Amino acid sequence: MDTRPRHINHDSGPMKCPVDLDSVDLFAPGAQEHWYEMYEILHRDAPVLRVAGGGLKPGTDAFVLTKHSDIAMVVKDPERFTVMGQRRVNEWADEGLTAESAYEVTRNLMTASMVSLRPTQEMYIRHRKELTDPWVGTGASRHRELIARLANELVDEWIDDGSVEFVSRFARPLPQRVFAAILGFPRADIPMLAEWGTAIVIPFVHGTGLKHEITPDQAKEMHARLAGFQEYVYEHVRTKRADPQDDMVSFLCNVHYEALDRKLTDLEIAGIVHAMIIGALETTQYALEEQAQLLCEHPDLFHTLRNDRSKVRAFTEEAMRLRSPTHGLSTRMTSRDEMFHGVPVPAGSLLHLRFGAANVDPEEFECPFDLDLERDGLTRHLAFSAGPRVCPGANLSRIEQQVAWGVLLDRLEDIRYGADNDWRHQPGIMLGTTKVNLEFRRAQ
Ligand code: HEM
Repeated sequence: MDTRPRHINHDSGPMKCPVDLDSVDLFAPGAQEHWYEMYEILHRDAPVLRVAGGGLKPGTDAFVLTKHSDIAMVVKDPERFTVMGQRRVNEWADEGLTAESAYEVTRNLMTASMVSLRPTQEMYIRHRKELTDPWVGTGASRHRELIARLANELVDEWIDDGSVEFVSRFARPLPQRVFAAILGFPRADIPMLAEWGTAIVIPFVHGTGLKHEITPDQAKEMHARLAGFQEYVYEHVRTKRADPQDDMVSFLCNVHYEALDRKLTDLEIAGIVHAMIIGALETTQYALEEQAQLLCEHPDLFHTLRNDRSKVRAFTEEAMRLRSPTHGLSTRMTSRDEMFHGVPVPAGSLLHLRFGAANVDPEEFECPFDLDLERDGLTRHLAFSAGPRVCPGANLSRIEQQVAWGVLLDRLEDIRYGADNDWRHQPGIMLGTTKVNLEFRRAQ
């Protein structure tokens, strides 16, 4: 099954199809429609691409990595390849900044909260184990029933129509409803939470270049759209401290954080909620809608999965490999001089990790563009990254996707593309289509 996404929209959009290294620009407007062609060129001609002057300090370079082996090595060794966010937090902690004073400087709850909660890599591990794993990591399977109920509720809303715009009526609201329920926020607040979620990810969608830079005006807009978020979380923290429920925010209000031998402050809780909202919403939305598209592109696949549910997990893993929601992040830096494929990469260089390219690297995956449900080592892909900083919500997202497709396979006989799709992707470093019209027959 060749699932190469050189499909319907290949010739639409502002960018022409790249034919050689000179025409490769992963960050040009419309580049999303050609990323996979660019990956083939990069794998062949420049698996380590130097971006002159693209580094953090003036006169330093950045390097785009596209090989699975390189990226896997980098993310598995945070001592040798510094995690950018962690580096800033280490520096602030060393300067004696508190979470509160860091917030005054950054106006970013997530980064500020890290200063006290996880100022070192070792503390990062404790933070994950003690604070987030019980809800979105190792403990995420407790949400299976909740996810199935919420998925069924969404399907109830359109099952009699014979057609549906899948993004707005399933792929987007499902992770939103699931996450509001896990955090313990009222369903009625979802539009507000969604607006904050959209504002938080502005740099990843509208940022330019490999540093996802936003203009001062965009930064101002982002902060304006986030107004009220902190107070909203604080208000819930106050209520849940007094009257805890079975939800993640109540848990965070009351947990004794062994690593610091104390309870968390309101700011620290708001920081964790902020980080989770960045990670949890659009990523899973794009995974679900790309999976729907893969099913439309392979009509037999829906029936295969309907008849053998044990294959659903393989399908979601292969889909995340082939259409990774997070295509690239510039989150690592070299701590010493390195050599990648004969290309010298000096200490202090910024690394852009192209997870989407690593996942179709022919040296790692045989017939990389085939959706192969029998592939060995299905979770070898790097859609969630790997190593000690692997996405902390990977388990929750995996369960959401598997349960969602379980419900859809139960309730629908088939799916196919409906009318009026243009399949173009949104800008930024995520692979996501914001409108997917589907037609379906309801299961008897
Ligand atoms: C298909 C869905 C998802 C994808 C593809 C994805 C992908 C990623 C990737 C590639 C990273 C970077 C890891 C690194 O730096 O090595 C990351 C980090 C992160 N993700 Fe996810 N993610 C998804 C879902 C989620 C969910 C559901 C949550 C929350 C419940 C979440 C929370 C986070 C957080 C908080 C981080 C930052 C961790 C840190 O500070 O190092 N993600 N994710």
